[in-house]
Amino acid sequence: MKYELLLEQAKGILEAEPWYVSAFSNLSSLIMDALPDLNWAGFYLLRNGELTVGPFQGKPACIHIAPGKGVCGTAVVRDEIVVVPDVHQFPGHIACDSASESEIVIPIHAGGQIMAVLDIDSPMKNRFSPEDREGLERLAGLIEEKVNWSDPVVPKTVPSISVRERS
Ligand code: SME
Repeated sequence: MKYELLLEQAKGILEAEPWYVSAFSNLSSLIMDALPDLNWAGFYLLRNGELTVGPFQGKPACIHIAPGKGVCGTAVVRDEIVVVPDVHQFPGHIACDSASESEIVIPIHAGGQIMAVLDIDSPMKNRFSPEDREGLERLAGLIEEKVNWSDPVVPKTVPSISVRERS
């Protein structure tokens, strides 16, 4: 039931501004706020063949993760959701926050390719249930349907004003 409300709010966020920077910022905040017992929630984006940290909530995190490395890179090469009930039992887990005990990583696609992963960490072991997995898979589907991956930042061109006119 808690995912029905979260998905409704996520839809509102994505429809208000689908640009991935704004949407992922508010979505990571929504996840941290709506789901109990988390210490990190955010996105890693594939950029030049490597996962690069994107909008998130939590402690500063590792910036680059190669495909195949850690839980995030494993989710990329397997192209599937990875649930880790105990991060200390996952070979190669990358510890960004020593408080993390369990983790879930959900790939996000566009045009049949992985663009990003949603990474969520908890300070509790076994935090992520089948209900969480299903709810977060639906969230990833909503993101895939709504997000706008384009729109680079472009400075506004203003008519040039000479120093004399300005003073
Ligand atoms: N634990 C992740 C690294 C990212 S942090 O959890 C934010 C991993 O093993 O890929």
